[in-house]
Amino acid sequence: MADQTPLPANADLSKSSNAGPSRRSLFGAIGIAAVGQAVQAAPAGAQSFTGDPSKMTLNVNGRDYRLNLDTRTTLLDALRDHIGLTGSKKGCDQGQCGACTVHVDGQRVLSCLTLAVTAQGHKVDTIEGLAGPDGTLHPVQQAFIDHDGFQCGYCTPGQIMSAVACIHEEHASSDDDIREYMSGNLCRCAAYPNIVAAIKQARDQMGPDKIGKA
Ligand code: FES
Ligand code: FES
Repeated sequence: MADQTPLPANADLSKSSNAGPSRRSLFGAIGIAAVGQAVQAAPAGAQSFTGDPSKMTLNVNGRDYRLNLDTRTTLLDALRDHIGLTGSKKGCDQGQCGACTVHVDGQRVLSCLTLAVTAQGHKVDTIEGLAGPDGTLHPVQQAFIDHDGFQCGYCTPGQIMSAVACIHEEHASSDDDIREYMSGNLCRCAAYPNIVAAIKQARDQMGPDKIGKA
């Protein structure tokens, strides 16, 4: 199964691979790290952190949201429960289904495995921000409609966000490539053939000038 791309740079806790750490192990590791920091003397020259870690600003779909959150809050919960953007879905909440896929700095991540605090300073995009300002659907959104790329629709926001990234990554050159690089997004309605057809249509419509430019 293909991995989705983790948050770049300093945000490697967002790694979205199914083979990656579970939420339990992730939070366990964080807890261990926190204890370690509490009992160990700061190394010489280290700067002490004086800010309030629960206050954060997230840039979502081009807009800043100032939030006051428990630092253990996932990006998915921040989006859905605190910002009110419920397009990103909670399927498994443990990195297995892809329903929560969003973009961070143009790369797809699983928001249920990403701590909201690690998304500070990054550009978060969700399904709500995909259409143009005048409401024109993104080519991938339109292609999903054209090809009936869904039935119940629960997985669809994650499928579409992942498909946009898949095309930009240039991992949509063949049916096999699409299936491989979309394999982190499950669909219990099994709309897979239609999803592949939709991605091919969008890939061809987007053209090489737009591919690679998230
Ligand atoms: S809800 Fe995030 S992968 Fe399933
Ligand atoms: S359309 Fe129902 S889960 Fe994918």
